[in-house]
Amino acid sequence: MANTRKKVSILDLRKMKERGEKITWLTAYDYPTAQFAEEAGLEMLLVGDSLGMCVYGYEGTIPVTMDQCIVHSEAVRRAAPTAFVLGDMPFMSYQTSNEDAVANAGRFLKEAGVDAVKLEGGLRIIPRIRAILDAGIVVCGHIGLTPQSSGQLGGHKAQGRTVESARLLIEDALAIEEAGAQLLLLEAVPPEVAGFIAKKLTIPVLSIGAGPYCDGQLLIVSDLIGQFQAFTPKFVKKYANVAQVVTDAMRAYVKDVKDEAFPTDEYCYHMLKGESEKFKDMIKDYE
Ligand code: KIV
Repeated sequence: MANTRKKVSILDLRKMKERGEKITWLTAYDYPTAQFAEEAGLEMLLVGDSLGMCVYGYEGTIPVTMDQCIVHSEAVRRAAPTAFVLGDMPFMSYQTSNEDAVANAGRFLKEAGVDAVKLEGGLRIIPRIRAILDAGIVVCGHIGLTPQSSGQLGGHKAQGRTVESARLLIEDALAIEEAGAQLLLLEAVPPEVAGFIAKKLTIPVLSIGAGPYCDGQLLIVSDLIGQFQAFTPKFVKKYANVAQVVTDAMRAYVKDVKDEAFPTDEYCYHMLKGESEKFKDMIKDYE
């Protein structure tokens, strides 16, 4: 079915917040999945560094490289021409210096054609956010549970669950908006804290595991479709069981081949009219 939607811009997302329409966001890592997402009407797609776990089978996001992110972002962009696509800056692509941050954010735009980049961290990465913005690139902040620094957080733990921790999140959020970022993602934060931040900020504030009061929701597509098996965070709602469907299909194929039930005649190419008889004669030469 042809998609007649106009390209989603950062201004469209801002207007959605203003009129109270929830923004829908999913990760995507490959061409077919991004096509489904475009068809399903998702406004935003994130080529997350979660591809480390969801695509490459790493234990976490730390080993993910810029080159991997670019390859996947490029495929997603091609499949989803109207969605607002964000590239996720992997570990050590922006932490090292403003120059590295700008050069790597620029690669996402030049080589993959994304609309924006996302980077993890609050007050301590404000100089990086400003530097990328100064290069004319749309930035999405990401605070709360920030997987790239989960070692410092003591694991993949929800944030903002005490008043002091909530205050730090609010300070981070205010600083990110003040620096000029046009989007903010809150991960694994209590709903009342996330809701307060979403109300306080004028930029769209999106939630992954941050409850219903934000301006939109993000989920990891491999969780949503029931493809990722290693673990399931509390905030994930599974809408399908693709792992089961695919494994069942593969088992049925294995059985059919072993039983010689596949391929039947309908799956075979036939010789052109009159060629079969000639073929039988011809192979006599080899008998
Ligand atoms: O990489 C990713 O998919 C993310 C989400 C966990 C927010 O950053």
